[in-house]
Amino acid sequence: MKKKKKRNKWKKNIYILIFIILILGGSITIKKLLKNNNKNNITKENINNDKNEKKEETKTNVNLEKAPNNYQEFIKLKDGEYLTSKGYTLSIKEGIAYIDNNIIVNKTYSVPNSYQPQNPNEPLTGEKCNNCIDKEAMQAFKMMQSDATSLGLSIYISSGYRSYNYQENLYNRYVSNSGKEKADTYSARPGHSEHQTGTCFDLNSIDDSFANTDEGKWINENASFYGFIIRYPKGKESITGYQYESWHLRYVGKELAEKLYHDGDWQTLEEYYGISSSYE
Ligand code: DAL
Ligand code: ZN
Repeated sequence: MKKKKKRNKWKKNIYILIFIILILGGSITIKKLLKNNNKNNITKENINNDKNEKKEETKTNVNLEKAPNNYQEFIKLKDGEYLTSKGYTLSIKEGIAYIDNNIIVNKTYSVPNSYQPQNPNEPLTGEKCNNCIDKEAMQAFKMMQSDATSLGLSIYISSGYRSYNYQENLYNRYVSNSGKEKADTYSARPGHSEHQTGTCFDLNSIDDSFANTDEGKWINENASFYGFIIRYPKGKESITGYQYESWHLRYVGKELAEKLYHDGDWQTLEEYYGISSSYE
């Protein structure tokens, strides 16, 4: 009798065990099924996304157009906004190009004859003014100048703001001296000079000798910490469209300037933003 009871107990335990195994097995299978189902969904979703992206691509290709005031083809995001080849938004406001609030002026992008610095350090009085550059740029310059002075170096602005008319006379003079093709390698045509915007200036002697002076070397190594870039670096002539100008500094703010510095192997605004610099 006792033996039978014991056997029944064993049988009961085995049934419970089988029951537990079945439940566990079932739940694992259900989980697997759910997982596979999700995988399938994700794959389908991906495929749908791919399809949408392809559709989007076709759509944007249709919207590829020339931005006003330049000769580059960009994807049009909306009226007055274009996507550059490096993924930056180029905004055209009243015929003037901006990227990240930085005004863009080069051989491709120009400013109208009447354009003047928006926030000059001193009110504009004439066609040329060394102190009439942008207020923020002037503040940064003064800091840089004072640090240079404390190291026994002398830096000064020889050419800051230049009006459209001033640049026109300057450029025409260069053209009659050395011909248009040569002049275009070192002087901007009127409307195409950063000097009209008040965001740049030329230092000291404004010639090739500056690069080899203590001042020129210090500027090359330190200007970025104050927010300036060497706008036309050595070896980048075919990108900027201009010869190396060790003396021409452009204010872009510390963040961007430090990104472009590369230990003196300067990256240009054209490379960084994915824009061109060439006359039509
Ligand atoms: N020398 C520079 C390119 C200018 O004329 O603005
Ligand atoms: Zn200059």
